[in-house]
Amino acid sequence: MTYHSGSHDFTDKRAGYERLAKQLQGLLAGETDPIANAANTAALVFDALPEVSWAGFYFLRGGPGGGELVVGPFQGKPACVRIALGRGVCGAAAAKRETIIVQDVNAFPGHIACDAASQSEVVVPLVAAGRLVGVLDLDSARLARFDEVDARGLERLAELFLQASRLEELR
Ligand code: SME
Repeated sequence: MTYHSGSHDFTDKRAGYERLAKQLQGLLAGETDPIANAANTAALVFDALPEVSWAGFYFLRGGPGGGELVVGPFQGKPACVRIALGRGVCGAAAAKRETIIVQDVNAFPGHIACDAASQSEVVVPLVAAGRLVGVLDLDSARLARFDEVDARGLERLAELFLQASRLEELR
């Protein structure tokens, strides 16, 4: 693992995410433990991205058919532990297997308010070999904090996490 902390410049967002992807690759290199990798991914994202109040993982527990999302490694305030598939922004992104950007969480039907300060959110589903593993969730206290550049950048980071990790250890 190599990680040189330092200033994270997001004035050019795409370039910022490219640098972040390289940093994450270094951070995950040679490590396959999914909890360790999720913890460092959450820490890097939270440290690097401006105006993010919560960053972390929910993992699908309970096997095929049933199953609910259970909070995993994260940075930020304590969070809701269990989220049923289809519920909230996390459950919706997981059920649809699509990244969801919410400009105003107060206008999202069924949004689960873990932190009253949260105003906007982006959730990236984690899918590996056709299997839903969980989601990567980011919150912000600013309205409309996340756009398509964030979504694509975070999807790339999520992919790096999935590729590096022995996901069967999460079952
Ligand atoms: N707001 C999320 C719940 C998780 S917290 O934001 C950490 C949701 O509606 O799914």
